[in-house]
Amino acid sequence: MDSKIRSLVKKLTLEEKVSLCSGSDFWHTKEIERLQIPSVMVSDGPSGLRKQDPRSGIREVNNSIESVCFPAAVNLAASFDTDLVRTVGEAIGDECQAENVAAILAPGCNIKRSPLCGRNFEYYSEDPYLSGKTAAAYIKGVQSKGVGTSLKHFCANNQEFRRNSYDSRMDERTLREIYLKGFEIAVKESSPWTVMCAYNMVNGIQMSENKRLLTDILRKEWGFEGIVVSDWGAVRDRVKGIAAGLDLEMPGSGGTYDRLVIEAVRNKELAEEDLDACVERILDFVFKAAMNHDEGATWDKGKHHSLVRDIAGECMVLLKNENRVLPIKGSDYILLVGGFAKNPRYQGGGSSHIRSGNIDSLLIGYQWNSKLIYEEGFSALDDKYDKARFERAVAAARDVDKVIVFAGLPESYESEGYDRKHMDLPQVQNDLIDAIAAINRNVIVVLENGSPVTMPWADKVEGILETYLSGEGVGVATALALSGKVNPSGRLPETIPLRLEDNPSYLNFAGDSSVIDYREGIFVGYRYYSRKKMPVRFPFGHGLSYSTFSYGMMTTDADKMLDNETLEVTVDVINESDVPGKEVVQLYVEADIPNTRIRRAVRELKGFCKVFLDAHERKAVSFILDKSAFAYYDEELSDWYVEPGDYRIEICRNADEVIMYKTVTVTPKKPKKPVYDENSVYKDIMEDSRAARIAKPFYEKHLGSTEVFGEHPEDSLADMTIRSVVNLGFGDFSYEEMSELINRLNGRKED
Ligand code: BGC
Repeated sequence: MDSKIRSLVKKLTLEEKVSLCSGSDFWHTKEIERLQIPSVMVSDGPSGLRKQDPRSGIREVNNSIESVCFPAAVNLAASFDTDLVRTVGEAIGDECQAENVAAILAPGCNIKRSPLCGRNFEYYSEDPYLSGKTAAAYIKGVQSKGVGTSLKHFCANNQEFRRNSYDSRMDERTLREIYLKGFEIAVKESSPWTVMCAYNMVNGIQMSENKRLLTDILRKEWGFEGIVVSDWGAVRDRVKGIAAGLDLEMPGSGGTYDRLVIEAVRNKELAEEDLDACVERILDFVFKAAMNHDEGATWDKGKHHSLVRDIAGECMVLLKNENRVLPIKGSDYILLVGGFAKNPRYQGGGSSHIRSGNIDSLLIGYQWNSKLIYEEGFSALDDKYDKARFERAVAAARDVDKVIVFAGLPESYESEGYDRKHMDLPQVQNDLIDAIAAINRNVIVVLENGSPVTMPWADKVEGILETYLSGEGVGVATALALSGKVNPSGRLPETIPLRLEDNPSYLNFAGDSSVIDYREGIFVGYRYYSRKKMPVRFPFGHGLSYSTFSYGMMTTDADKMLDNETLEVTVDVINESDVPGKEVVQLYVEADIPNTRIRRAVRELKGFCKVFLDAHERKAVSFILDKSAFAYYDEELSDWYVEPGDYRIEICRNADEVIMYKTVTVTPKKPKKPVYDENSVYKDIMEDSRAARIAKPFYEKHLGSTEVFGEHPEDSLADMTIRSVVNLGFGDFSYEEMSELINRLNGRKED
């Protein structure tokens, strides 16, 4: 820490120090005039800047200035394009800089455990690698403008039900591999200025008091150097919080906790050094923000609006395109149906809600085809039936070439603060799609929603375009994608299951208790569906294009490696079509280790790269893989470990479809030494050649005892512990001899 900051802390009174550790109001840190410590402002995120209008009253926290609404987090993840995400981050950073906002309260990096989480639109993916890489790109973009970010909600905040208090319970491997991994990648790759601790508990400990996560893992293991800020109102006991590494309480609980902290320091319940450490970090943040503030900065609303229009199509996922029903041709006579064409859903609800003054509805954006009629069919604002409206739409569908239905979730269906009750679209929408598909073969469904919906009509329609929540340029961007002026190149950042009941968290999501057991463990999203060989509507990573891509040669620069080495993988991608487009090259790793005792997903995403290819162009794409591509979290070692063996490096179309692979053998530099005790079993000992040699005489003696071990002693012994063998051995072996054997198995030198 800067020595100037240290000496400044020495000049502060206890009361001043404590005061700095909470907000002065909803959005500001406190000022200390006598020492020229300024107050700085933070604002939400993530899909744009939600800054409270300075002219509004202290309680009018939702009265925001007008800013640009960018595509939601789910869209950014669907782009599979870290350059695009970074560009969005830069634009948001520009807005923050010009509006004198020190840090934006974004991005959210929580895992989509269930399609029902009310905030799924604000999160990236069911996959931690994609989440972490996308978050890192966003953070790099914003912070390149001298503005901080707040990586949130750390961690395991995966539902809105009892969101302030529930306890996410899971084993250490699940925590490390799934719920921490995205945060770990983002912290290590992009050094966010702040991390926001979540409302919930993790394994019984409130996140705002969780020393293990806030200090031992976040700071000591990952090297985080910024401040930990509480989610708004997430503090339960700030004395414990400060000791755990929580720096800034927001908004500030009207000073209630300040008094308690002062008392705790005076009574020596809280070490003053712990408080000082928080104050030093807060001052570092405040001065960094002040130093980086550019008084003359401006931003261009029109430019950012165009940016949204340009990029939104790149995040759209073309789920189905039978008989090349899309793109729409100029000669097609089209019926547009659905309230979403008029009142598009382009953002989610809650703290991320942007006050945008410039929303393109599809009808405004509709300049690509003059032969168009429109029937509302159903409203975008609710789920009510209107018989006359419904029937008019069906009747109009008879005489047109193609029908495009704009379906989606009404705003009230998904928001921060509550979870969805089911995964379905309003029934009126499903019924209307069915009715229209019964009379017109060329139906295209365009979806506007923040998280997956069931699609009972999927086999009856020709085209499905998932646009998620595209931001304020939604109408034009959708028109461009439908007409082929933009080639949609998004891929699903989550699985779309056939039905909610298939989701691995189904039996343990939300429910009636505050204790949420993450019983599915590491098998979240595609990790579960592929292991179970379960059919899904659309797999993770799926997405079509108006171009046709194929793959050429795949090479690796080695076929054997140690886990402290890296591996370069190169693959050729070819655009076989006349249509320029972007392909997402997806690299997964699959362990090919017979008899492994490690339960793993079939394959895991370990690399992706979006690449533009002109008509008939060919390009080589390379990836560098390191230990993290092969390792699992080993609870015995309390560390990441690469099981020795073969691994397939797979280039895939999506999580279910392998295009080509190469096998490499990976060996850990420091192989794990097995530890034996009286509960070690025969099979394990025999698999370790050194141990097998030592234990052979012991087992030979017992294998002869067919009376005890049956006709097939090898089989009956397989899972038997050393202790049981001794116990069943008619006193042939003593416990002393057993201890001697265990000592030798564990590595006495002469063995
Ligand atoms: C949300 C945060 C948000 C904060 C400030 C909380 O309720 O969980 O994501 O940044 O409010 O609006």
